[in-house]
Amino acid sequence: MKIGLLTGGGDAPGLNAAIRAVGRRALLGGDSLAGIRNGWAGLLGDGDIEPMDRPMFSGILQLGGTVLGSSRVNPIKREGGLEEVLRNIDRQGLEALVAIGGDDTLSVAAWLADRGAHVVGVPKTMDNDLMVTEYCIGFDSAVSVVAEALDRLHTTAMSHHRVMVLEVMGRDTGWVGVMGGLAGGADMIIIPEFPVTVDEVIEHLDKRSAAGSDFSIIVVTEGVEMEGLRGKDDAGEKRDAFGHVQLGRRGVGETLARIIEERTGHETRATVLGHLQRGGSPSAYDRIWATRVGAAAYDLVRGNRWGMMPVVQCGAVEIARIADVVAEPRRVPRDLYELAQVFY
Ligand code: F6P
Repeated sequence: MKIGLLTGGGDAPGLNAAIRAVGRRALLGGDSLAGIRNGWAGLLGDGDIEPMDRPMFSGILQLGGTVLGSSRVNPIKREGGLEEVLRNIDRQGLEALVAIGGDDTLSVAAWLADRGAHVVGVPKTMDNDLMVTEYCIGFDSAVSVVAEALDRLHTTAMSHHRVMVLEVMGRDTGWVGVMGGLAGGADMIIIPEFPVTVDEVIEHLDKRSAAGSDFSIIVVTEGVEMEGLRGKDDAGEKRDAFGHVQLGRRGVGETLARIIEERTGHETRATVLGHLQRGGSPSAYDRIWATRVGAAAYDLVRGNRWGMMPVVQCGAVEIARIADVVAEPRRVPRDLYELAQVFY
């Protein structure tokens, strides 16, 4: 069987581990692999596809990024784009397609599966907000980066008695913020699920000062909407191919830091962690789970279970419909958010 493999959307550490797992399992099963370049872009126009043989799956387990390349190109947004993808699948003789991605990439996969295409998915997003699954490739590595950044910010915040604001990624949800903040001992975590006002932030900092704390660390998710705070680029919203505002440009962390300094008189600095959260080597946890879901995706192909994907539930690999996984974002539950508040 000829199996096409693509990685779409924002890259994340662990993608190569999943590519390796699908590839090595497929070669062992006597199947052949075609690497589709740069996500869905590789199935548009004339297509951009190359055969993948065993050496291409060697030495990549520990590599960040994706050897296949990625993009946010969205066939849904292109006139006739989805039909073009179907035609290319046919033309290239792909008998199965493994799409590794987050909600955008997997939404396209769900649409194709609905039209009878032989597609299976693999969950990837450092935002960790896909429904049905507890694990998405890249999240663990991102949280480790946030925790390390917080450790570093702590020492300098203590020395200078400053407020430090750390802006982390997260479009609709605050998984990276809340888990990174828990791991790094943040003094306040602001995430989209539980919005606070600027007044509440100031009140909290005043309370900490009154209790004798002479520094504070705040984690803020780039996607938050806060009363009293407007990002600098809200007006001229620049969007990617999936129609998402480029949140990094809103400068929520910088704006919040400026307001805090103005209103409290405490010296305040902002750090934007940005794409450092997505770069570099995957954690051991990401390598292991990306390997497990990658291998399980190949099993779905062998079982002709189109429109399905491996997910992680209660520490085990289970199978779910791609359409269910992309139905809506999975949000941070209140108990987790409240647990973080204990340490404020
Ligand atoms: O893939 C999700 C994500 O990491 C978001 O958290 C972030 O807002 C976005 O990607 C950044 O995207 P880009 O790489 O296009 O700047």
